[in-house]
Amino acid sequence: MGPIGIFDSGYGGLTVFREIMRKLPQYDYVYLGDNARVPYGTRSFDTVYAYTKECVEKLFAMDCHLVVLACNTASAKALRTIQQRDLPKQAELRKVLGVIRPTTEVIGHYTETRHVGILATPGTVKSMSYPIEIRKFYPDISVFQQACPLWVPLVENGELDTPGTAYFVEREVNRLLQQSPRIDTVVLACTHYPLLYPLIRQFLPEHIGLLSQGELVAASLADYLERHPEVQKLCTTGGSTRFYTTDNAAGFEERAGIFYGQPIQAGEVTALLT
Ligand code: DGL
Repeated sequence: MGPIGIFDSGYGGLTVFREIMRKLPQYDYVYLGDNARVPYGTRSFDTVYAYTKECVEKLFAMDCHLVVLACNTASAKALRTIQQRDLPKQAELRKVLGVIRPTTEVIGHYTETRHVGILATPGTVKSMSYPIEIRKFYPDISVFQQACPLWVPLVENGELDTPGTAYFVEREVNRLLQQSPRIDTVVLACTHYPLLYPLIRQFLPEHIGLLSQGELVAASLADYLERHPEVQKLCTTGGSTRFYTTDNAAGFEERAGIFYGQPIQAGEVTALLT
């Protein structure tokens, strides 16, 4: 038995973890942020897969049987290969879940016009994961995507409400809306973006709904654990949280609180790839 692992390329997954903690506070958790190698969103498929796999293995080594990739880029580029190729080779029961499916399976409840906008990293956009997954559940929904390559570096650097950030947020939001005047629902399909929520909201017409993933992922995890008692019984309960980063712990602690909503103490995980 062991804690539930939560992984992201940096701080973004903390916005999801915060909601998971709110919904399922009884479990033990370990969070790992690969801050030393963030951002993932502009990297190749092979690189994101290699980095993600390595971090998932770290979490397995910390006794996690269930790991949530609280990162859209990793979910888009690494999850399927990990699930189909790597997990079957594990001696013990190990499960890895992502954040794309919990979002795409409920998106149909939010849109009336059936025109949905996706704001995401270039990697997630290029993977086409959102259009493909949404089509599986809701063939009648048209999906429009806009890559926002600078948003993650801006958020990681704490530039949440500066004129420079406002410029890039307005630009990408407008580029998305120009693709269809009928978009009535926009998904923040990157776990870093909830930190920019007030700014993004400012540039969106009022009638357009703006969706963060945290609560959707938390609800989906609760449902998953209920449906999979064989996995649930491997997750220890005690309500503990531990935080690790592949970079400097003091630096991580300084910023992580903004994402998590309260101060945290972190440890360092070293000896990863380059
Ligand atoms: N938070 C990650 C996501 O949800 C992206 C961060 C990155 O580019 O590393 O896509």
